[in-house]
Amino acid sequence: MKVIRTVSEVQEWSATERSAGNTIGFVPTMGALHQGHAELFAQSVDENSRTVVSIFVNSLQFNSASDLEAYPRQLEQDKVIAEKQNVDVLFVPNHEEMYPNSFSSTISAGPIAAHMEGLHRPGHFDGVATVVVKLLNAVTPDIAYFGLKDFQQLAVIRTVVRDLNLKCHIIGVPTVRNESGLALSSRNSRLSPESLTQAPSVYAVLLEMATQARERETTTTALKAHFTSAMKPFSAAKIEYIEIVDSVTLHPVNTAKAGSTICVAVWFEDVRLIDNISI
Ligand code: PAJ
Repeated sequence: MKVIRTVSEVQEWSATERSAGNTIGFVPTMGALHQGHAELFAQSVDENSRTVVSIFVNSLQFNSASDLEAYPRQLEQDKVIAEKQNVDVLFVPNHEEMYPNSFSSTISAGPIAAHMEGLHRPGHFDGVATVVVKLLNAVTPDIAYFGLKDFQQLAVIRTVVRDLNLKCHIIGVPTVRNESGLALSSRNSRLSPESLTQAPSVYAVLLEMATQARERETTTTALKAHFTSAMKPFSAAKIEYIEIVDSVTLHPVNTAKAGSTICVAVWFEDVRLIDNISI
């Protein structure tokens, strides 16, 4: 596995591979890799002749300096995981490579980023959109892979790629969970033992709500009330939001039915987890 640290070198590598007739799959990450990331790598390796993974902790998408500081960084471990999945190139630019002193152009993600994550994390999706467009222009892949776990992020990226005429297919990959149903996340390593036992309740309740909505159209109000009361026994959990949205437009809906997605953000002490389920 080749490690590349500059934009010009990865652009050159991609051009050479493409002129040799190879297709390029790409998975952008912030590192602290786990099985969820590995699933994206595996799909890319399966569907393309070459796979590039980037690791870059993007300061532009963090809302607080302490969250950025606390974000786990473990490049040596990450290399082992990527290598095991047969990733061809690890693109690991440093901050100055991505955001030199004179850096001034950013992308505004627009209305799709205005609620849910975007509402609670102002500027977050502008930061995500900016770095993803920069990474796509550096790696120039045929296909880029994103997790459905970050449901709104995927919708924002699809919109930006369409709006700005980027020549890249975007593929959403189902959420990988541990045996208790907890969605794998780099943030899980920061959960206290008590929170770790309580956090799987989020997906358990999402499953209940989806089952209910699949059996009969259910009002958003009823589902929100269900989530709030079902999470009450879990003392470490503090709900930040629960929204039921159209799975494509992400507009809030009044009744949950096929084509809707339930999205939640829940704090467990100082760790913020997100999850979702489509009906
Ligand atoms: P990061 O949180 O490292 O996630 C990288 C990719 O892995 C994202 O597309 C995310 O949705 C996916 N992913 C994370 N956990 C997953 C799981 N349990 N199952 C399936 N996929 C999972 O998301 C980011 O980084 C950043 O915002 C990024 C897109 C790299 C831009 O900085």
